[in-house]
Amino acid sequence: MWEETFKSHTDNKPNGPSSISLDFSLPGVEHVYGIPEHADSLKLKTTDGGDPYRLFNLDVFQYELFNPMALYGAIPVMLSHSAQRTMGIFWLNAAETWVDINYVQGSSETPQTDVRWISESGIIDVFIMLGPTPTDVFSQYASLTGTQAFPPLSALAYHQCRWNYNDQEDVAAVDQGFDEHDIPYDFIWLDIEHTDGKRYFTWDPHKFPQPKDMLQGLMDKRRKMVTIVDPHIKVDSSYKIHNEIRSKGFYVKNKDGGDYEGWCWPGNSGYPDFTNPEMRAWWASMFAYDQYEGSMENMYTWNDMNEPSVFNGPEVTMHKDALHGNWENRDLHNLYGLYVQMATAEGLIERSGGVERPFVLTRAFFAGSQRYGAVWTGDNTAEWEHLKISIPMCLSLGLVGVSFCGADVGGFFKSPSTELLVRWYQTGAYQPFFRAHAHLDTPRREPWLFGPENTALIREAVRQRYALLPYWYQLFYHAHHSGQPVMRPLWVEYPQDTATFSMDDQFLLGEDLLVHPVTEEGGRGVTAYLPGKGEVWFDVHTFQKHNGAQNLYIPVTISSIPVFQRGGSIIPRKARVRRSSSCMEHDPYTLFVALSPKRFAQGELYIDDGHTFNFDKQKQFIHRRLSFANKFITPSWIEKIVILGASKPSKATLKTPGEFFQFIVCSNVSGFHTQVGI
Ligand code: GLC
Repeated sequence: MWEETFKSHTDNKPNGPSSISLDFSLPGVEHVYGIPEHADSLKLKTTDGGDPYRLFNLDVFQYELFNPMALYGAIPVMLSHSAQRTMGIFWLNAAETWVDINYVQGSSETPQTDVRWISESGIIDVFIMLGPTPTDVFSQYASLTGTQAFPPLSALAYHQCRWNYNDQEDVAAVDQGFDEHDIPYDFIWLDIEHTDGKRYFTWDPHKFPQPKDMLQGLMDKRRKMVTIVDPHIKVDSSYKIHNEIRSKGFYVKNKDGGDYEGWCWPGNSGYPDFTNPEMRAWWASMFAYDQYEGSMENMYTWNDMNEPSVFNGPEVTMHKDALHGNWENRDLHNLYGLYVQMATAEGLIERSGGVERPFVLTRAFFAGSQRYGAVWTGDNTAEWEHLKISIPMCLSLGLVGVSFCGADVGGFFKSPSTELLVRWYQTGAYQPFFRAHAHLDTPRREPWLFGPENTALIREAVRQRYALLPYWYQLFYHAHHSGQPVMRPLWVEYPQDTATFSMDDQFLLGEDLLVHPVTEEGGRGVTAYLPGKGEVWFDVHTFQKHNGAQNLYIPVTISSIPVFQRGGSIIPRKARVRRSSSCMEHDPYTLFVALSPKRFAQGELYIDDGHTFNFDKQKQFIHRRLSFANKFITPSWIEKIVILGASKPSKATLKTPGEFFQFIVCSNVSGFHTQVGI
């Protein structure tokens, strides 16, 4: 039993076979969630009679849906929810882990869920988060693993990616295309082909001879770029990065003590030991402007293949008996990707002298990865089912701390039909990380390649995203502050409403926006569940009012994105959409005040510089609580507002279309009320 073979691989298990396990019984529970990453429904399924859910970071080719198989990331956190209580189990173990779920009838007719955790190695280290509310569980978990990094505002805008934008001319042409078609975007991405032979931190000298000119061109338009930096390093004695890692002894070792080598994009590659803090500090220093030649402050980073992917390794990953110092990969496998992103984010912070917030996208992740940036759901496929599954996949991540999640818009493999592409933009516009991406072998699919009508539909979806950026930013501020998810299942806000406990096709953004995107081919209508007895919801496009606690059938056309604002809320938007979010920086806000049946509404407005840590270090921000209260009716009206001490003349508009009012009363967060107008 000491040795195991898998295909041509041998795991020599120097310490012998091992495993640890613990069973939990959850009385009164019929719904459990979390333990991403799986391409499955939000409510986890019973595994009785099938495979358990597997947590083992892997580079999976064309993953299957509704399947407990392991994917790129692993967060060993499960939430249970019932009308009485929300609870969490955090099984802190980074080895290969399996989770069995059995929904059973407990004693005396009470439902019960039995859960079994099994890990290959390590110790039993479990945190039970007792809630009792969902909000409590989120803050309890945040106190253990930290909160979502507060991204630069621009990272919440639209990202244009494909494998690959071929050369500088191509980048310039795509950039120009967005202007010509009046579609905003903030980031254009360069995949692996931009490098000199897959040597990260370098540029292909023929295709990208003047990277700074290219970046400056983008900067002039207040746009940005992301380049990919993967953690496999080409074994090549003329490559500086490889030579330094080798000479410093920073590579992961094989069981015999030599540098571990495997096959990846560059061919034969070494894998830096990111679990070593000295290695991470060195890696971070490689992002300095004088080290990463051709980089500039509007260039950010994408870490891919960090499971790590080893094309010729067992299950396309690292051998379990490879060594990170004294630790086997077996013990910490699921942590590798987290450390890659951690070191990269640190590099981006350091290169700016600690001033700028980083933006780093990762494919592999573990509990706590939320502190370093965004994740995406990897190599999905241009099929309707993959569009649908993006909702529960991102919701599951949000429940366990990772709010900044998205799926490749359009689908990575294969080509979407035009209808699917449009629907994907409409859905992605209301998911946290909004990036189009496509495989190298797929035909081009920039938004204007499908005829003027479809260009207009995509433009409209992207513009809706930009208009709502103030609200997205505010939600991320809260995710950063208190660990509350940005994209939420309905039960988080309506914990007693059992009708919301297993919904995969609609979600909330914060408390106040309900989104039910159209994800059916040929969809003529959707049935949205509007929660809350006694509450009302307003269609954000027509301002039509609907009662809560009902299934509402909404006829749709190809231009429809069903979104509702909760009565009782105030949502900030920006009405002038420009070519990037930075261009909108100093634009005015429009407040949408949706009244509750008691003619009350509250919300907030959060504003800072959008990109530095000054909001935190120097408390440079504006955070206002807004409220509308119509307690007393008077026939008089506000005729004029006189603002004393304003530096320049200001204009204010007050409108009252139907029951949708514009801005009324504001107070600061400490509760001091300043009445501005009614
Ligand atoms: C992986 C990534 C994909 C990327 C490709 C090339 O498949 O998941 O997004 O385009 O590698 O770098």
